[in-house]
Amino acid sequence: MKKLTISTVQKRKNADPLVMITAYDALFARLFEESADILLVGDSLTMSFGGNPDTLSASMDQMIYHTQAVCKGAPNTFVICDMPFGTYIDEKTALANALRVYQETQADAVKIEGGADKASVVKHLTQNGIAVCGHIGLLPQSVRAEGGYKVKGKTEEEALSLIADAQTIEKAGAFIIVIEGVKANVATRVAQSVSIPVIGIGAGNGVDGQVLVFSDMLGLYEPFVPKFVKQYTNGAQAVKKAVADYAKEVHSKIFPDESHVY
Ligand code: KIV
Repeated sequence: MKKLTISTVQKRKNADPLVMITAYDALFARLFEESADILLVGDSLTMSFGGNPDTLSASMDQMIYHTQAVCKGAPNTFVICDMPFGTYIDEKTALANALRVYQETQADAVKIEGGADKASVVKHLTQNGIAVCGHIGLLPQSVRAEGGYKVKGKTEEEALSLIADAQTIEKAGAFIIVIEGVKANVATRVAQSVSIPVIGIGAGNGVDGQVLVFSDMLGLYEPFVPKFVKQYTNGAQAVKKAVADYAKEVHSKIFPDESHVY
């Protein structure tokens, strides 16, 4: 598949839906490259791989390390690096950190959470040559401030506020927006209100593409499966069975057999 660019990503507005999936390392990025349009090095890595209860502890150094690995594993795929909590609190801080992403990795864009309140940051980054993916709706980095993960778009006031968020960050220069945890009919209205692609996660089918956390969709993460996640395989069971088979064969000395020795 030919690597997408900002302009070919944007051509997918109201067209063939974009396939985005998270990736945190070269091993999985290589496996995803064949089918994914965009790889997102999400700060969710600090939960699924780091074992933390939320995304707030992710650091710039960690995101850069993982983004470097993903870019090496999937050099022909468009890669977005998530900006961690606290790394884009103002224009100057955001630019210094986003410049690190461009200078130290091969990422094509960065993602920041927030709507109209982050418009000045989005504008400052885009004016300085950084491609920005917005992220509106349920914002995982606000989980402690909001006291949990709350689905958005339940009232007309919230719906109008989400539309205003999307339009404001589009005007500020974002080339694409992720919309998370929003009532499907509202996410559709948001997508229809802007001319850049809107990628949904837990936001229904009326948008321009979908993103899922890879460990969720591969069924690797057992503790909690959100309603919006479809598990395309039972990865946890496959891994456990393979390791149990290996352990059994080591104990019984079936492995290594003649075909696996020098
Ligand atoms: O960190 C992440 O994986 C994300 C997705 C949930 C969109 O931001």
